Amino acid sequence: MTQENIESILTEDRIFAPSEAFRSKARINNRADYDALRARAEKDHEGFWAELAKSEIDWHKPFTKTLDSSRAPHFSWFTDGELNISYNCIDRHLKDKGDKTAIIFEGEKGDTRRITYKELHKNVCQFANALKAKGIKKGDRVVIYMPMVPEAAVAMHACARIGAVHSVVFGGFSAESLKDRIEDAGARALITADGGTRGGKVVPLKAACDEALGKGCKTIETVFVLKRAGNDVAMKNGRDIWWSDATKGQAETCEPEWVNSEHPLFLLYTSGSTGKPKGIQHSTGGYLLGTIVTMNWVFDIQENDIYWCTADVGWITGHSYVAYGPLAVGGTALMYEGAPVIPDAGRFWKICQDHKVTIFYTAPTAIRALMKAGDDYPNKYDLSSIRLLGTVGEPINPEAWIWYHEVIGKERCPIVDTWWQTETGANVIAPVPGAVDTKPGSCTIPLPGMAVDVVDDAGNSISTPDRGGYLVIRKPWPFMLRTIWGDDQRYIDTYWGKFNNRYYVAGDSCRRDKDGYFWIMGRIDDVLNVSGHRLGTMEVESALVAHERVAEAAVVGRPDDIKGEAIFAFVVIRGPRPQGSEADKLTKELRDWVAKEIGPIAKPDDIRYADNLPKTRSGKIMRRLLRTIAKGEEITQDISTLENEDIVKQLQGEM
Ligand code: PRX
Repeated sequence: MTQENIESILTEDRIFAPSEAFRSKARINNRADYDALRARAEKDHEGFWAELAKSEIDWHKPFTKTLDSSRAPHFSWFTDGELNISYNCIDRHLKDKGDKTAIIFEGEKGDTRRITYKELHKNVCQFANALKAKGIKKGDRVVIYMPMVPEAAVAMHACARIGAVHSVVFGGFSAESLKDRIEDAGARALITADGGTRGGKVVPLKAACDEALGKGCKTIETVFVLKRAGNDVAMKNGRDIWWSDATKGQAETCEPEWVNSEHPLFLLYTSGSTGKPKGIQHSTGGYLLGTIVTMNWVFDIQENDIYWCTADVGWITGHSYVAYGPLAVGGTALMYEGAPVIPDAGRFWKICQDHKVTIFYTAPTAIRALMKAGDDYPNKYDLSSIRLLGTVGEPINPEAWIWYHEVIGKERCPIVDTWWQTETGANVIAPVPGAVDTKPGSCTIPLPGMAVDVVDDAGNSISTPDRGGYLVIRKPWPFMLRTIWGDDQRYIDTYWGKFNNRYYVAGDSCRRDKDGYFWIMGRIDDVLNVSGHRLGTMEVESALVAHERVAEAAVVGRPDDIKGEAIFAFVVIRGPRPQGSEADKLTKELRDWVAKEIGPIAKPDDIRYADNLPKTRSGKIMRRLLRTIAKGEEITQDISTLENEDIVKQLQGEM
């Protein structure tokens, strides 16, 4: 897409200021102070981050060098410092907050647990010792494929404690996707559960592990299995071990492995526009700092807050704002295992009431779905404990924003719309709620120390209000990704190539309004955002063509009321084009196939069959035409070069 295509259409001019009540308790409570902080960061980028890294992190060995740009576009931060993130999230709170609740857990069936910092410390240490007993050591990769239970966070911290690099794979991904990630990471151990509960059903996680391991994954030596759902599972002698057996008799303390600030903390796989998912590699010190400063600035977390981020630990949001951020600042994090609609669409609001949640952070897709279910659900519950609301993952449409503000926040709570990515590690553009007024649909202004800009095709900053361009970050920041695991060239090409290594290119288009507020307009590449989750069109296409009956496939997004974007697949099959009930049967088969290849989130919503795909003379698929058709809009593009114009009617479903 070129910059001329990036036209802005949304206009929303309502402005909401934080209430006096909110402001009076907020850490940063006026715009002048906040602007002064941002100005300081701008004046001395390195000094600003160095000061924060010193004050917010407990270093085992203090750093003397802040930023190393000698290998740009690879950047290292706090390079000679040594620390341990599990120590920073747990041990350092033990003296003053040992008996404070670190994690409140609620299962889908209603079972609850409260885990104090002391208990968390013990659980993490015992599991860390269990990992060590199986020979896992610093630098080894460990894949975690678990339900949303506290042990998922325990497993992450146990890895971090001994310097092992974790890679969490979302429990909704298929055996095939799990296998790809295990193999790419070269993991030595896999941590899973018999099953998790979601949507009233048991998700058979261990069975998926067995399937993945049956197809390859030769590097896996040990599989740790947590008993959670109680479903029957097969255990392979010599390879599989129950969590409870592995931790039995293990010491309750485990000296943290002090690692260099740049030591990889985790890999997290995410979709790009080409090829297989890429393993985004994050550091230890810089990443930790990002989670801490944003918990303070954006979520304004305070001693008695009950903080609930609904994201699964399989996504970056679940890393930064469930497993690490809330604990790093000594807070109380809530974890919920299940779906938002079990037993009904009031579940989230009931949890907020029962556990007196004060900060609630979720995705626009969930807000839209719950809004659709009607106001009676939230109105049944006492939501007066909530003081701050947040959203993440995609632009929030103003209608959903206003509903969130009125029906959930009772016009009392600021909404922080946070823009960031797996790659950025933590929030980048977001309001500081006591200081920055909000506008529905805008993530407002960049955080201090984040040199975000919008540029044109030539890489020049766009100063004209409301003109769309590429969202870029001009200066390195401590919590940025370090590389793509095993594919450094792809890191350089994907994020730095477009403007000759001058800026980090986020892959989003964006405009700035007259007040300097940022409005994200969507992706500029072939990446879909389905329910706030990233999926490459190529990934879904590859899954489709892997089916024996599919010859060719093209996948595009179309707008969807709940999911944001829905997946629309145009498919050419081998042999005659299926019609009627035969087409329906094949559609079901292909949807199930994609679910098996990638995971249920990637199932195409629509599949349409044609004898051919529309291509340009040079053989490129005319995606813009397909997008128009998927939206059901009138075709205005020039299609005169198409060999067979009849296929347009087929693609439109008319014949
Ligand atoms: O397109 C942007 C969108 O989600 C992408 C990042 O996806 P992922 O790495 O999966 O991380 C999602 C959670 C951080 C971005 O490139 N996105 C994320 N947050 C917002 C957003 N779009 C608009 N507004 C947001 N607040």
